[in-house]
Amino acid sequence: MGKLNKICILLVLLLAPVDEAGARIIVAPHEYGRVIIANYSARAGLAPVVFNHWVHRAQYTCRLCHVDIGFAMEKGATNITAATNKQGLYCGACHNGKRTYNGKTIFTSCSETTSRNDAICERCHSPKKNSDNERDFKVFMEKMPRKSLGNGIDWEAAESSGLIKPIDFLEGISIQRSPLKAQKDFSIEANVAWVSDVIFSHKKHAFWNGCEVCHPEIFPIKKGATRYTMFEIDSGEYCGVCHDKVAFPILDCQRCHTGVKY
Ligand code: HEC
Ligand code: HEC
Ligand code: HEC
Ligand code: HEC
Ligand code: HEC
Ligand code: HEC
Repeated sequence: MGKLNKICILLVLLLAPVDEAGARIIVAPHEYGRVIIANYSARAGLAPVVFNHWVHRAQYTCRLCHVDIGFAMEKGATNITAATNKQGLYCGACHNGKRTYNGKTIFTSCSETTSRNDAICERCHSPKKNSDNERDFKVFMEKMPRKSLGNGIDWEAAESSGLIKPIDFLEGISIQRSPLKAQKDFSIEANVAWVSDVIFSHKKHAFWNGCEVCHPEIFPIKKGATRYTMFEIDSGEYCGVCHDKVAFPILDCQRCHTGVKY
């Protein structure tokens, strides 16, 4: 296959809206980053659990949940049960009826003493479309800097301007550590001439992710050790582990390929 052919196929793949199997569906801004957790709920006669990233990432860093609390960065891969939540693990690390956020007690998660039809269970085990969440999103959104894709929010600007201040330390869960100095920004050369190189900012990424979210699992700590292509990124590997799911989507080509040549 000629190089030009390959590129044409790549572009078609990247730009075409595909369904289920292909996975590129453009979701509503408040649904971007939503994860449905459904390993055990149905068996227990409960509705599946709806977890919204936009609510949580405005309040906490990715690292806090994905390293300190230990949620997998893959839908359904964490073994969350009513019992783990009650022990104060996973959702129960915060949703325990004791921990506070902004002076307000965070509502509690799974319990045997409460009826399963209780409104408190339904905040997570949501049987219907969550219209409260959409309303809350609209209110939140009003104060935020915009970007066209994903949540429609420029998260980077929201953080650097101090509009949101995600917490990176949870009493009783996180271990106090001295922050590692972030590596210098570097550029990743695209392997075709007509796309511009990608400037990767360690500093900006480390704010949200610390170091351990990426190293060594997604990227070995050695520049140039891994070669990857746009095709792999688009399939959910490397940068695509986060971009297209929670961080801004792949369709936003120019945010990575700044000053595109084509
Ligand atoms: C309050 C905790 C929390 C925060 C903060 C958080 N996440 Fe998550 N994340 C989760 C949970 C829970 C899941 C689902 C895990 C499961 O189903 O096993 C998840 C899943 C994911 C997934 C997989 C989604 C999918 O569809 O497969 C990605 C990617 C991800 N998170 C990235 C991020 C990034 C990037 C940030 C920061 C901008 C972040 N998360 C912040 C809790 C969190
Ligand atoms: C690091 C702390 C933390 C963890 C871990 C956490 N949450 Fe939350 N969550 C919060 C806070 C703070 C709020 C907002 C408080 C409120 O509305 O009472 C919230 C709000 C919510 C809401 C209401 C807003 C919405 O999305 O509609 C739901 C539902 C929710 N969390 C589900 C979950 C689930 C499910 C998990 C585990 C998979 C989880 N949370 C893990 C801190 C956390
Ligand atoms: C903060 C979010 C949250 C709230 C509130 C919550 N749950 Fe859960 N619960 C979860 C998550 C996440 C799972 C795992 C879902 C899955 O994999 O299907 C779960 C799973 C369960 C399960 C099935 C797994 C098992 O261990 O048997 C039961 C039963 C359960 N919850 C009961 C309840 C009851 C009863 C309430 C109301 C008192 C409740 N939960 C409220 C998050 C929550
Ligand atoms: C969002 C993901 C991500 C985060 C978070 C991250 N890195 Fe990296 N890091 C990378 C990538 C991508 C490379 C280049 C890998 C390659 O080219 O194969 C890299 C390369 C490196 C290198 C080799 C650089 C060189 O010039 O040889 C070091 C050292 C490093 N990272 C340290 C850190 C430290 C320390 C932190 C936390 C402060 C951190 N990284 C956070 C993605 C990340
Ligand atoms: C662990 C998750 C994760 C991985 C892996 C990741 N990113 Fe990001 N990236 C983020 C988050 C979170 C933001 C903040 C903006 C947002 O959420 O939309 C971000 C922001 C950015 C930005 C805008 C900030 C800036 O530097 O101006 C660029 C560009 C970017 N990422 C490129 C990349 C590239 C290229 C890779 C792969 C080498 C990569 N990212 C891998 C999570 C990730
Ligand atoms: C999250 C950041 C990110 C986004 C968004 C992104 N790219 Fe890339 N892209 C990269 C990185 C990193 C490379 C370099 C891979 C390498 O060569 O090591 C790359 C490489 C490429 C290449 C070179 C050939 C190849 O397969 O490596 C093409 C063509 C390309 N991207 C096109 C696009 C198009 C078109 C879009 C929008 C639909 C896009 N990219 C969006 C990060 C991104």
